[in-house]
Parts: sequence; C-alpha cells; structure tokens
Amino acid sequence: MLYRVLEGDKHIHVFAMTMILEENKVWIDGCFDFSHHGHAGAILQARRTVAPGAEPTSELYCGVHSDEEILHNKGPPVMHSAERYAHTAASRWCSHMIPDAPYVTEPRVLDSYGCKYVVHGDDITLDANGEDCYQEMKDLGRFKVVKRTAGVSTTDIIHRMLTGKYEYAMGMPPVSQMQMYATGPDGYAPWCSVYEGSLCPNKLLVKGDAQVESLPAVLISGDFDLFHMGHIEQLQRAKEVLYPGCRIVVGLHLDDTKTGTRTIMSLSERLLSILSCKYVDGVVVQPEMSGEHTSGWTDSLPIDDARLLEGGSFSYLTKQTIVSRVEDSRVLYVARNTKKGMVY
Ligand code: CTP
Repeated sequence: MLYRVLEGDKHIHVFAMTMILEENKVWIDGCFDFSHHGHAGAILQARRTVAPGAEPTSELYCGVHSDEEILHNKGPPVMHSAERYAHTAASRWCSHMIPDAPYVTEPRVLDSYGCKYVVHGDDITLDANGEDCYQEMKDLGRFKVVKRTAGVSTTDIIHRMLTGKYEYAMGMPPVSQMQMYATGPDGYAPWCSVYEGSLCPNKLLVKGDAQVESLPAVLISGDFDLFHMGHIEQLQRAKEVLYPGCRIVVGLHLDDTKTGTRTIMSLSERLLSILSCKYVDGVVVQPEMSGEHTSGWTDSLPIDDARLLEGGSFSYLTKQTIVSRVEDSRVLYVARNTKKGMVY
C-alpha cells in the first residue's frame, strides 16, 4: 500500500505494505502535456493490454509527473500540473489518476498499487542524465510497449504556437481510428456515436452504444481548439449537474468560431481528443445550426455559455491564455523544442 501525504503543497509518497501484483492492473505514466490524442491513444492501448471480458475487470492507473519533475528532466511543460492531472483523470479509460508520479518509473510505486506492468509508447524516454526511464522495469520483465500515434506531439503543438504556422492534414480521421477512440470504459465496447452535419441516422459515421443513443441529446457546440480543462469541466457540468440522464453530444465546428480562421489543432486532432473524454457521449462534426437537419436534440448551447461556466475552477483557461504562456516564455520554449530537433 502506498500513502500519499502532503508536506507543504507537495505530495510525498510513503511506502508501507506491498500489494499482490495483478495482471489486470496496468500502469502508464507520462507528462501528458496538452493531453493530446497521442497521449489518449497510449492510455487507450494501455487499457487494451487486458483482453475484453477479463475478470477481474481491468484497472488502469495513470501516473502524471509534476511540473518540477518535467522541468528538470525535459523542459518546461505548458499545461500546469493541476490541469494535466484533471485532464488525464477525465479520460474514459483511466480508472485512477496518480499525481506526482516519479519521472523515472519505480517498481515499488507500481507494487504499491498492485500493478504488474507499465505501458509506454514505442519511443525511448530519457531522464536528465540520459538514462532510460524504464530500464529497471524492462530488466524486471514488467514493461509493455504500445504503438506511438504518428503525427502528434507536444513539441509540434508548441512549434505551431511559436511559428504561427498550422501545417497539418485536413479532413476526418479514418473510421477505424474514430471507432477506437469512441469506445467505452473497457476500451473495447462501443460508446460514442459520431455524426457528420446532424443527428440523422443517414449521417452516422460511427455507431455508439444503443442504450446511450436512446437518451435525449444535448448539443454543446464550439471549435474546442486545444481541447483543455476549461472545456472539459463545462462538459462535466453539463453531464452531471445540468442535464443528468441525457447524452452529451459535442457539436464540433471546423474553424475557430470567434475569428473564422484556422484552429491550432486540426479537426481530426480535436475530434479524437474529444472522443476520449468521459463526459462526451457523441460528436456531430460541423453541425448544421439552421435548415432542415437541426432537430434531434433536447437542448443546444454553445461552449462557454454562462450556465456551463458557473462555478468552474478552470474557467481562467482559454486558448489565448495557453498561447500566451508559450509566447511569454518564448526563449525557454525555443530552447526546449530545439533540443527536440526543431529549427527556428
Ligand atoms: N505517446 C504516444 N503517441 C504520441 C505521443 C506520446 O503514444 N504521439 C505516448 C508516449 O509514448 C508515452 C505517453 O504517451 O507512453 C506519455 O507521453 P509523455 O510522457 O507525455 O511524453 P512524450 O512521449 O514526449 O510525448 P510528447 O512529445 O507529445 O510530449
């Protein structure tokens, strides 16, 4: 068993009795800066290392590093620890989020939760001394590798902010990828539906869970650029406080709804991130807000509606606050990205 106590504002891990290691308890750790769909893909694949229907049901522990650990080993994160912790915990496949997880994965931390394996994408992560963060776990045969999602990284998102150039593929993700990200808590069974244009059956791209689909729909629309905790806590409020018993359907617009210009994240990146969020039950891509196909939802409101924002602890977070963090510390982020091979 591991106890976490607070000393000042820092979590201290206190180790006591070790639990029995279980095949179905899996650990994944990381920085999860921006918590983009590459991270969501790793979390989902970690969950899927346990076969569907396995007993006892799989549990996924997501360890998230503190800002101090990331700064020391990798460079400054953009999203703050409270934001990264809450965003990771909002993943549909995360059973438990463990804050302040050590940057170099320690077997005794996994032991204390009964987790046998750590899962990581197929890239090597080095600590500040150039050592493999997973070497000890590999030596113990307690390391599992999953496929890294191509074409997305924190480095690339920061690069877009530093240069103002948003060079990404347009269009929708492949249906097979949408189906993966639309799965329920076990990572296999269908959960979210995906539509294009409206909730009409002939506009269905991905079929979700029939019971979820039978609930009254509430449409929450926006561009959801950089899909962050400011958005997520509003979706949570809609699902748990304002519309319990309804399904929350995101109406995802193609461009920035305020300026009509390109979003920092592509449609595909935003869609996959939104699908991974446990407060989302469906997505309508480019919803038609007027004309013959507007029906199908019980209520419709824009993201950032006053009813959604009420009482939020992340309502300070907007796309601009995030971009400003990078712009205000430009020298630090250029240095961080240069270490990762980017040229400025
Ligand atoms: N990951 C992935 N696909 C990506 C990016 C990350 O599968 N495109 C995985 C990593 O392999 C790791 C987990 O997500 O298992 C958390 O990664 P993280 O520690 O946040 O950092 P990076 O791997 O450096 O990812 P990024 O460059 O995007 O920060």
